[in-house]
Amino acid sequence: MKILVTGGAGFIGSHTVVELQQAGYDVVVLDNLCNSSEKSLKRVEAITGKQVPFYRADILDRNALETIFSEEHIDAVIHFAGLKAVPESVKKPWEYYENNIAGTLTLVDVMRKHNVKNIIFSSSATVYGTPAFVPITEACPKGQCTNPYGWTKSMLEQILTDIQKADPEWNVILLRYFNPIGAHPSGTMGENPNGIPNNLMPYITQVAVGKLRELNVFGNDYDTPDGTGVRDYIHVVDLAQGHVKALKKIEEKAGLKIYNLGTGVGYSVLDIVKNFEEASGVKIPYVIRERRPGDIDTCYADASLAREELGWEAGRGIQEMCRDAWRWQKNNPNGYEDAADA
Ligand code: NAD
Ligand code: UD1
Repeated sequence: MKILVTGGAGFIGSHTVVELQQAGYDVVVLDNLCNSSEKSLKRVEAITGKQVPFYRADILDRNALETIFSEEHIDAVIHFAGLKAVPESVKKPWEYYENNIAGTLTLVDVMRKHNVKNIIFSSSATVYGTPAFVPITEACPKGQCTNPYGWTKSMLEQILTDIQKADPEWNVILLRYFNPIGAHPSGTMGENPNGIPNNLMPYITQVAVGKLRELNVFGNDYDTPDGTGVRDYIHVVDLAQGHVKALKKIEEKAGLKIYNLGTGVGYSVLDIVKNFEEASGVKIPYVIRERRPGDIDTCYADASLAREELGWEAGRGIQEMCRDAWRWQKNNPNGYEDAADA
């Protein structure tokens, strides 16, 4: 099977390309590199020993998509391409709706013209808003998102659901990721955020490597055991392997399926600091700050549906996530910028 991976040069995409190639799939990557480097794909090639065919293209560019679908015999699409910075989405809602929604509509239109009706979509636990209950099952009602990024995920889930309903030849799998962290165990691939990281783990690793002075802990008065926010952190390699399992489900003619991809375990911000310090041997200074607008107390998955129906379970624990994130950051303090292998 040949899989088109949109956004395949990015953090989760590049790790997924490794797992797909190792599982024997043919992979083609499309990415406009707006938030990534082609060097990540060189690192993939070094790990798998296989070439990664790459199209530098935008999902909004219908002609470019037409070319790819004409040149390659694509069987299924794993659709990662999208903008994902929550605060930026509040400042630039139009750009987020245009890129994520119009981009996906264009992609899906070209797919159906070429009779490719298999798609795995990167959604997020953010669609649950303030969750009605935890652990969150897929039956938990979707909620009010607190930002345009979250709404693009929620709306795209609805759009893909309606498309599948109208044409049951489509197989649509919506994967709701919890909080992906960690890096490939080789230490050659990982998360490479532009500017000051918004998310917890890349912020911590940049404090550890000396690029940032101290961690700001956003609030210690939440209704959680230590007062700081609790999340379900999942190793990016486990997440990537979840996509391989989802592809197998697509091959069985899945119809419409929705799966949480998380570990089912919640850790607070201070748990993460402590685990990171243990894994790295580096002290992380922190200060307690105001709550960050839009944050919730607690969010973790009930991941049993993915276990039962996909045969997938996250196997890597929090120490492994911290160790791998640290190895990547230590070996590549400036991400892919200094890489000499491309
Ligand atoms: P990322 O930014 O590293 O990867 C996204 C990739 O898409 C980038 O390489 C970027 O260059 C590319 N891209 C963006 N717009 C594009 C366009 N118009 N055309 C072509 N390429 C485009 O992000 P990631 O963390 O790897 O996330 C992958 C997907 O998973 C995203 O859709 C994201 O919203 C979703 N997601 C991520 C998280 C997370 O915590 N990282 C959580 C839930 C969902
Ligand atoms: C956020 C987004 C979510 C998105 C995900 C990945 C919100 C409300 N949610 O999830 O939509 O899918 O990122 O991009 O923005 N924290 C600190 N200090 C920091 C950074 C974070 O204390 O410098 C805390 C947060 O308050 C939170 C936890 O760490 O309690 C995790 O934060 P983060 O990594 O940003 O993920 P989410 O907010 O869960």
